[in-house]
Amino acid sequence: MGVEICVEGLTKSFGHQVIWQDVSLTLPAGEVSVMLGPSGTGKSVFLKTLVGLLKPDRGSIRVAGRDITGLREHDLYEVRKLFGVLFQDGALFGSMSLYDNIAFPLREHTRKSESQVRRIVLEKMDMVGLIGAEEKLPGEISGGMRKRAGLARALVLDPQIILFDEPDSGLDPVRVAYLNQLIVDLNAQIDATFLIVTHDIASARQVPDNIGLLFRRELVMFGTREKLLTSDEPVVRQFLNGRMQGPIGMAEEKDAAQVEQELAQLGAGGHTKAPGSQAMTPRLLPGPGIPRPPRWEAIARREAALHPGLHPGPYGKEVADA
Ligand SMILES: Nc1ncnc2c1ncn2[C@@H]1O[C@H](COP(=O)(O)OP(=O)(O)O)[C@@H](O)[C@H]1O
Ligand SMILES: [Mg+2]
Repeated sequence: MGVEICVEGLTKSFGHQVIWQDVSLTLPAGEVSVMLGPSGTGKSVFLKTLVGLLKPDRGSIRVAGRDITGLREHDLYEVRKLFGVLFQDGALFGSMSLYDNIAFPLREHTRKSESQVRRIVLEKMDMVGLIGAEEKLPGEISGGMRKRAGLARALVLDPQIILFDEPDSGLDPVRVAYLNQLIVDLNAQIDATFLIVTHDIASARQVPDNIGLLFRRELVMFGTREKLLTSDEPVVRQFLNGRMQGPIGMAEEKDAAQVEQELAQLGAGGHTKAPGSQAMTPRLLPGPGIPRPPRWEAIARREAALHPGLHPGPYGKEVADA
């Protein structure tokens, strides 16, 4: 069922600049978690720290029970094999076909024969809806297809943990919807723990089991989707509801006086629930034809009880990209 990642008291700085401090959270095995935060709050730094590309100043990161922060390069190399990472731009080699890009980690890190490589590459390309595009170059396809190719490449070594760095950035809303559906479908199909970094609130509301919010060098909150979506914490409420009023400003942080002024303008209602603002968004479920493991069966039953008559996930698995 994937592996658990347990982060405790994690602090990271570059020189005198503290990026975030005292971050503690547990990514439950096999679940989907989303890390939200305004840009520049250190979400990418967090992912890089989890895979051991950056060293934290303090704290521990236990991956399947083992603290990786003190590991030497050789042992880290072994731990990294547990991770599949989808970088922001897909990070494909421009001069290689999609097939060769996706085959790359297998040829680099395993001794598999070319026929075994072929079987695995085609299986993963099928999972992300890229069959038929094997010979395309990254420059010849849409951004959405590049993301899916990056995802297929992240999957070939059968990772226990998949990290997505803003998989939705630069995609139009329709492609974001397809990608979210793909992520949910994949979670139902493979045994891995997912962490998705994004600042897309709509995705955060529909996709994960858990949500975390980084802001002002702190992990403001981490917990179940229900907990965050119904939270009264001002930063969490503002961010998840995409509001202008609140502690987060255009320059990312407003000063306290401005926050007070806004709260005064809102009057006594400023801290109470605005009607409908904290309604639970229906959760995206695996699409038709995707076998549901017991975990997803339970989620689907809960969703059906919460939102009777609703059929979430209007998006099929068809390839929408030209
Ligand atoms: N290797 C690095 N050296 C120094 N500063 C860095 C490095 N990587 C990131 N930073 C700084 O860390 C901060 C957070 O960056 P990042 O994690 O990319 O934010 P986000 O992904 O949330 O937009 C930024 O101020 C960035 O300049
Ligand atoms: Mg980033």
